[in-house]
Amino acid sequence: MDKIEKRIKELKTQLNIWAHAYYVLDAPVVDDAEYDALFLELKDLEAQYPQFITGDSPTQRVGGIVLEKFEKYQHKTPMLSLDNAFNDGDLLNFDKQIKKEVEQKPYSFFVEPKIDGLSISLIYKQGKLQTAATRGDGVYGEDVTSNIKTIKSLPLMIADLDDYVEIRGEVFLNKTEFNKINAQRKAKDEPLFANPRNAAAGTVRQLDSSIAAERNLDAFLYYYMNREKISTHSQSMTHLQSMNFKVNNLGQHCPDIQAVIEHVNYLNTLRHDLDYEIDGVVIKVNEFDLYEEIGYTSKFPKWAIAFKFPAEVKTTKLLDIFPTVGRTGRITYNAVLEPVGLAGTTVQAATLHNADFIVERDIRVGANVKVKKAGDIIPEIIEPIKDENFVNLPIWQESQNCPECNSPLERTVGEVDQYCINSSCPRKIIRSLEHFASREAMNIEGLSIKIIEKLYENGFVKNIADIYKLKTVRTNLLELDNMGEKSVDNLLQAIENTKQNSAEKLFFGLGIRYVGKKTAQLLVINFKSILNLKNQDFDTIATIHDIGPTVSQAVVDWFKVQANLDLVTELQSLGLNTDYLGNVGSKFNEEISNKSFVITGTLSKPRNHFKSILEEHGAKVIDSVSKKTDYLLAGSEAGSKLEKAQKLNVKIINEEEFKELIGE
Ligand code: IVH
Repeated sequence: MDKIEKRIKELKTQLNIWAHAYYVLDAPVVDDAEYDALFLELKDLEAQYPQFITGDSPTQRVGGIVLEKFEKYQHKTPMLSLDNAFNDGDLLNFDKQIKKEVEQKPYSFFVEPKIDGLSISLIYKQGKLQTAATRGDGVYGEDVTSNIKTIKSLPLMIADLDDYVEIRGEVFLNKTEFNKINAQRKAKDEPLFANPRNAAAGTVRQLDSSIAAERNLDAFLYYYMNREKISTHSQSMTHLQSMNFKVNNLGQHCPDIQAVIEHVNYLNTLRHDLDYEIDGVVIKVNEFDLYEEIGYTSKFPKWAIAFKFPAEVKTTKLLDIFPTVGRTGRITYNAVLEPVGLAGTTVQAATLHNADFIVERDIRVGANVKVKKAGDIIPEIIEPIKDENFVNLPIWQESQNCPECNSPLERTVGEVDQYCINSSCPRKIIRSLEHFASREAMNIEGLSIKIIEKLYENGFVKNIADIYKLKTVRTNLLELDNMGEKSVDNLLQAIENTKQNSAEKLFFGLGIRYVGKKTAQLLVINFKSILNLKNQDFDTIATIHDIGPTVSQAVVDWFKVQANLDLVTELQSLGLNTDYLGNVGSKFNEEISNKSFVITGTLSKPRNHFKSILEEHGAKVIDSVSKKTDYLLAGSEAGSKLEKAQKLNVKIINEEEFKELIGE
């Protein structure tokens, strides 16, 4: 080997060993000067001999890559989230459920802190970190490799026998780093991050990786996905550690649920002393071979659960109450609070929901109130403290007029919410445009509420259809504040791209009352197009499985309004697709729609893959086999569900037969 190449290799190995000792083991073996000297030598050599630069060189972490946008990344296996437990009872139920599923087989648990960061999936190919992707919607995430490579505790190369290794974990900013970043932002008069998780998420989503490099992100890894040669979660943690990954050291193997509860309580006592935020504890079944048997719901694995720590409660003064109006016209009341430190952040605003909430609790401006964070995110007022100061305060009165357009508010008898029913209320329009552009609806990248406000205030957009006419006023858009040529063109392109969305996204985006994302999908899948759906009557819509009379009436009523019909026609003439374009299209088939399926055993793809195909065909996927089950889709090593289906004479199909059934 060339002398230079050899020296470069030596330097890399030494620096990687030192970095691992410093960033992962928290036990530095040399001082900074010694590290820096070798790092500089390596950098110089690589500058002279760039042919020897490799992906695992510590010089490759420093950032400097500036992207235009993040590429989408489709996860090989969906990134699921976890069901929540809030008390010991929930944990005991979790245990009971597992006991039932595994039928006498022995099992144990692994209990570890729930790191409050953002989840990340790492793909190593032939030992080299190839891709790092965010969770996104669980199926599609974003490729944020250049930012994740700046995490110094993360090995860029690993020694693993498998060619393809996927590892998942949590990226976070420790509290010290978070405070440092906010102090710097304060000095520069920049808006502060609300908490370490937001700061970490904001950092991972920076297009310029030198920002991430400056901010010292870190990562704990907790999920090794190549499970073939490893039989328990605790072994997989040891394996990750042996490959130099940072694994949280508070994880513990627990023989039974009582031991789990003890470790959960112990971690709760440590919570505020750690230098990273934890918002709970994750409990996983330790034995991998039981995972398939215990199974999954559509959102969660049933072999794991997240115990959420009880919210911290503090007392502070309520300075003011003000109303805001949402896209449906619903009024929400908000509180202005004297700043108070709560669960790691400073809180000065909280939600009060609706007028009834305030009246029932007799919450008064000027009172001392108890606050907590609901799900540790949005602060909420629990109740006022009725001390001597309280009795002299005026009783709060609800608003009579819309805070934005001043029109009188209405309240249907029996409903708790007040509504602004003025269809030209600017805030309602802005909020509905925001909904239309949102990820779950049309997913117009870059059309944020800030941009929508700007476009609305300058008269460019007054309704949904106007969004698709923006390209005709491109030059005028360039005159708006902070709208450069590039951002305008990106926005216009993003808008154009959404014209070809499958129609359920458009239908959800229209914001029809009671029509949530799932309902929009069901309706569009069943009727194949919005234009067809438009002509259906109440009874036809209501006969669809899972569609109730309220939704059916709301849809029929919506299509009765001439302005809505005109909007659909206009959108169509602007080139928006109004047909269902899912996998099934014309294959929509009576054999499957409205039938109930259970999926079990190991299949060639994750269960969610089959589940979404079935749902697109209008079928229902449920967890357990009963007399009412129409089909059991069984993969290899199917256990108790297969037996039960055989007993109950449920039709059992394999993957091949499934493909036939869906017409593939
Ligand atoms: S396991 C399929 N372990 O919590 C199971 N998740 O609420 C994958 N999280 O999306 C997750 N610490 O982002 C697991 N020790 C831990 C975790 C953890 C934090 C996050 C993760 C997940 C979310 C679920």
